Amino acid sequence: MPKGMWKGRFSQDTAESVVNFSQSLDLDWRMAFADIRGSIAHVRMLRKVELLSEEEAKTIEDNLLVIADEIREGRFVPKISLEDVHMNIEARLTELCGATGARLHMGRSRNDQVNTTVRLYLRKEILELWEGLRELISVLLEKADEQADRVVPGYTHLQQAQPISMGQFWMAHARAFLRDADRLFAAYDAVDECTLGSAALAGSTLPLDREFTAEDLGFSKVSDNSMDSVSHRDHFLDLLHFAAVFGQHASRLSEDLIIYFTTEFGWVKLPDAYCTGSSIMPQKKNPDVLELIRGKAGLLAGAYTQLMTLMKGVPSTYNRDLQEDKRPLFEAIEIMKGIFSVLPPLLKEIEVDEGAAKRGFSDGLILATDVAEYLVVKGVPFRQAHAKVGKTVAYCVEKGCALTELTLEEWKQLIPEAEEDLLPLLTPETAVSRRLTLGGTAPLRVKEQINNAAEELDDYVQLGGELFENLPEF
Ligand code: ARG
Repeated sequence: MPKGMWKGRFSQDTAESVVNFSQSLDLDWRMAFADIRGSIAHVRMLRKVELLSEEEAKTIEDNLLVIADEIREGRFVPKISLEDVHMNIEARLTELCGATGARLHMGRSRNDQVNTTVRLYLRKEILELWEGLRELISVLLEKADEQADRVVPGYTHLQQAQPISMGQFWMAHARAFLRDADRLFAAYDAVDECTLGSAALAGSTLPLDREFTAEDLGFSKVSDNSMDSVSHRDHFLDLLHFAAVFGQHASRLSEDLIIYFTTEFGWVKLPDAYCTGSSIMPQKKNPDVLELIRGKAGLLAGAYTQLMTLMKGVPSTYNRDLQEDKRPLFEAIEIMKGIFSVLPPLLKEIEVDEGAAKRGFSDGLILATDVAEYLVVKGVPFRQAHAKVGKTVAYCVEKGCALTELTLEEWKQLIPEAEEDLLPLLTPETAVSRRLTLGGTAPLRVKEQINNAAEELDDYVQLGGELFENLPEF
C-alpha cells in the first residue's frame, strides 16, 4: 500500500478492506477533466496572489495538461489505493514535478475541491440533458402541428369523455416538459456557483482570491458561507427533483401510449423499431421501450429519495457520507440520457389510426356534454340540461342506438327544447372545433398553444446557448 497523502500521523497502513470500502474512484473518475480544470483555476489564483511564482504556476499548469492528455489517451490508470480522482491526479502531478506539484493543494481542501469539481462536471451534463429535453419538446410540437385536425377520444377515469384534437393531447405533454425545462434551468442556476476557497469548512488564512477563481471557471457567482458551501447538496437535490418530476411526466406519457396501443383501444400505432416481440407468441408486438421508461421513472423518483435520506442526518459541513451523494445523481443522469435516446425518435414515428379512433365514438355518447351545453344556450339551467341529456343517454343505451342516430322527433320527445339546429352539432369534429375557450381543444386554439410553446422553447434554447458559450473551453 503506497503511503497516502494524509498519513503523516498514522502508524499503521490502512486495512485493505477499508481501502476498497472507502474508495470513490468508480464514481468520480468520470470527473477527471473537471478536477484538472478546477486545479488550473486554483493555480492561476495562487499565482495572482503570489503564493506561487510565475515559474511554479506554469510548471503545475503544464503538467496538469500533460495528465489530461494521459487520461484522454487512456495512458493513466488510476489506483484505488489513492481513494479518488482528486488524489490520483495530485499524486501524478507530484510524480511529474516533485516539490512544485506538492504546492498545488495549499489553501484548498478536498471538501471544496470535490464540491467545485462536481459543479463543473454538472454544468456540462445539465446542458447535455437540456439537448435531450429540447429535442423531446420539439418533436411533441411537430406532432401537435401535424395532428391538430385529427379527432380522437379524450378520457377521464379512462372512460370516454369528450372528443379532442390529437394536437391537444401532444400539447398537454409538451406543457409538462416545458415546466421541466424551467426546473432544469433552475437546477443549473443552483449548480452555477463557485465554492472553491471555502477550504475544509472555515475558509483559509491564505489571501485566496475567490472571485478570481470563480471567474476563471465561468461561474456566475461565488458562494457565501464557507461551512454551508461544503455542507449542502441542495443543488443535487434540485437536479434530482427535476429528474423525478421529468420521470413522472415521461412515464405518464408512456402509459397513455401503452393503453392506446392495446388491441382494445387500438388507435395508436407504435413503430416496429421501438417495439419488441415475444420468444413464444409470434403475434406479439410489445411496447417494451415505453414500459421501461415507466419503470425507470421509478428509479428517478428513488434517486431523489435516496439523496434526501442520505442528507437528512448528516451533521454540518463535510462528513464522509457525502461521498455517496454522487451515486443517485450520476445514475439519474444516465437514466435520463437513456430516455432521451429513445423517446423522441419513437414519438416521431407514432401514427394515429383515425378510423380506429372513430370506431370508438360510434355510440355518440361522447357528445352528451355538447347537447347539455346546447340546451344551456337555449336557456335551460345546466343541472336540468344535465338530467335531460342523462335520460336521453339511458334511452339510447336501452334501445341500443347511437346518440347521433336519434331523429329530430325523438329528440323533441325526449327534450322539448331541442330544435333542428342541434343535429349539425353532433359530430366529433364539430364538437372539437367548437371548444374555443383559451387553451381548449379546437384546432385553432391548439395552433395558438403550439405558437406560444414554440416561443417559450426558443427562449430556453437561447438561454441554453448562452450558458454553453459561457463555459470555459477546458
Ligand atoms: N472522495 C471523497 C468524496 O467524494 C473526497 C472527500 C474526502 N474528504 C475528506 N475530508 N475525507 O467526497
